[in-house]
Amino acid sequence: MKSVVIERPDELRLQDRECLQPAAGEVRVKVKYASICGSDVHIWHGHNPFARYPRVIGHEFFGVIDAVGGDVDKARTGERVVIDPVVSCGRCYPCSVGRPNVCRELQVIGVHRDGGFSEYALVPATNATPIPDSIPDRLASLVEPFTIAANIAAFLQPTLHDIALIYGAGPIGLTVLQVLKGVYGVKQVIVADRLEERLAMASDNGADAVLNNSDTPLAAQLNGVEPTLIIDAACHPSILAEAAMLASPAARIGLLGFSGAPCTITQQSLTSKELSLFTSRLNSHRFPQVIRWFEQKRVQPEKLVTHYLPLSQIEQAMTLFEQDPRTCCKIILQIE
Ligand code: NAI
Ligand code: MN
Repeated sequence: MKSVVIERPDELRLQDRECLQPAAGEVRVKVKYASICGSDVHIWHGHNPFARYPRVIGHEFFGVIDAVGGDVDKARTGERVVIDPVVSCGRCYPCSVGRPNVCRELQVIGVHRDGGFSEYALVPATNATPIPDSIPDRLASLVEPFTIAANIAAFLQPTLHDIALIYGAGPIGLTVLQVLKGVYGVKQVIVADRLEERLAMASDNGADAVLNNSDTPLAAQLNGVEPTLIIDAACHPSILAEAAMLASPAARIGLLGFSGAPCTITQQSLTSKELSLFTSRLNSHRFPQVIRWFEQKRVQPEKLVTHYLPLSQIEQAMTLFEQDPRTCCKIILQIE
């Protein structure tokens, strides 16, 4: 089988690998579509501190179960599935309180263990989540990025009357935008980015207002509007302090970034307004919920897709994704 292997940082290969049998508790998925995420590019360039090499990358993928290991119901063969990348121990404290995404022994498929940019992938049977026929093959891999938005939204509990501000109109900011509008019905969602093309995507994805903060700071553009809900999906360390300054008293702020650089903020700027800070990593059991949103058409995953490319063009696809944020949002790999 063909697999995309990062041998070591900066060395990407489309390799012929042996197609293995699933072990007990595992299924083998014949992968059909997989989408490229920023973290795949980070592993390629050696910028993901969790990655181990060599690694088959890809954590956003869809396919059909074609073999099952011992202890797995044989009737699952032929099931159409999307894969929850979170593999957890089920015993530690975070697992015991329903937070497997921060399990002490967390393994992320495509990061700590081999992933889905491959003709076949072995995954724990419990991570392979069935999807209904109403979700088309070519959009199914996008369930995973929407679980990122679902997870942070579950902490933030958006309401109709929130005034929301999203930093960043990349794939993550846009999934958050769609979830705030389509699922929670937030009436006013403002999106800030530095690229006009990305802001145009935000408008197309349902933003009520878009602001370009490349030259003029947001404070000068908001005309006194104080957001009650702020989500940082741009993830620069400087953003938190600005968000605290812009926020309404009693606002909630959601952070998604993994930067190792310190961010400077005073206690006063948080406590004087009694701001709540939430962070969110990957997802905790949110696949079924997002699959329902897809079925009910509460989100429009097709609006995120700018390219479909074959697996054979993986290096061109990753390069395009990395170097051309003005024309690229989600790139979906077709694996046949
Ligand atoms: P992306 O790089 O495609 O999008 C980021 C956007 O933010 C870009 O359009 C960029 O122009 C804009 N931007 C940068 N600085 C800005 C600023 N100061 N103000 C306004 N806009 C600004 O990235 P993507 O894929 O959308 O991911 C966003 C972030 O989310 C990344 O940092 C990633 O690490 C993080 N992430 C976190 C996850 C989690 O579970 N916590 C999961 C997935 C991604
Ligand atoms: Mn992803």
